[in-house]
Amino acid sequence: MLFGQNIYLRGLELTDLPEIMKYWNNQELKQFLNATTPHSAQEEEEWIRKTWEERKNGESYVYGIVLTDSDIYIGNVEVRIKDPISRRGNLGIAIFNPVYWGKGFGTEAIEVMLKYAFTTLNLHSAELEVFSNNPRAQRCYEKCGFQKSGVRREALFVNGEYRDIFLLDITKEEWKDKKSENRIST
Ligand SMILES: CC(C)(COP(=O)(O)OP(=O)(O)OC[C@H]1O[C@@H](n2cnc3c(N)ncnc32)[C@H](O)[C@@H]1OP(=O)(O)O)[C@@H](O)C(=O)NCCC(=O)NCCS
Repeated sequence: MLFGQNIYLRGLELTDLPEIMKYWNNQELKQFLNATTPHSAQEEEEWIRKTWEERKNGESYVYGIVLTDSDIYIGNVEVRIKDPISRRGNLGIAIFNPVYWGKGFGTEAIEVMLKYAFTTLNLHSAELEVFSNNPRAQRCYEKCGFQKSGVRREALFVNGEYRDIFLLDITKEEWKDKKSENRIST
């Protein structure tokens, strides 16, 4: 397991499925993920099994985010290897229940995941996409040291409107420079 202060990360279990199904089809969440098509429990079970397979193959690392105090599973964070030669990965995160948004758990989960990505998976850089209608996530990524590297203008159609997609990234060196400010000791 990968430990932060208030959360820890662990592999997904099939017993996580009910919690995923409680929130995964909620449009309040899905509008930020470009995944607005509702999913069935069977599809989500297949996805959990796929996370195990992809981790074994070194393709992608998906971990559940769990609150240390209560052991409540609140979401997922992923690093997907985009280019194994350049050691470039893509980061994704979703905390399911809005009651857990804005409490610092996302920042902490990303800090833990970046430490894992740079010191265990040996990535050289991590990148992600965030939508212009998601200022909370933008601020969270900024706190973790991500910088804006580009924009895909009006590349997303969501809630009846076209939105920009911002491209963000962080290199290992930038992460090292930032880590003294981080809550995660390295
Ligand atoms: C994005 C997400 C992972 C962030 O995690 P989180 O725990 O909610 O974020 P944190 O509490 O660590 O940080 C949020 C920051 O945004 C700020 N914020 C919240 N709402 C904001 C808004 N409308 N505008 C600007 N900043 C905002 C908070 O004040 C906080 O910054 P601060 O610490 O400087 O005060 C989480 O909200 C989530 O999973 N959301 C739904 C799915 C999603 O958007 N995934 C990301 C897709 S790119």
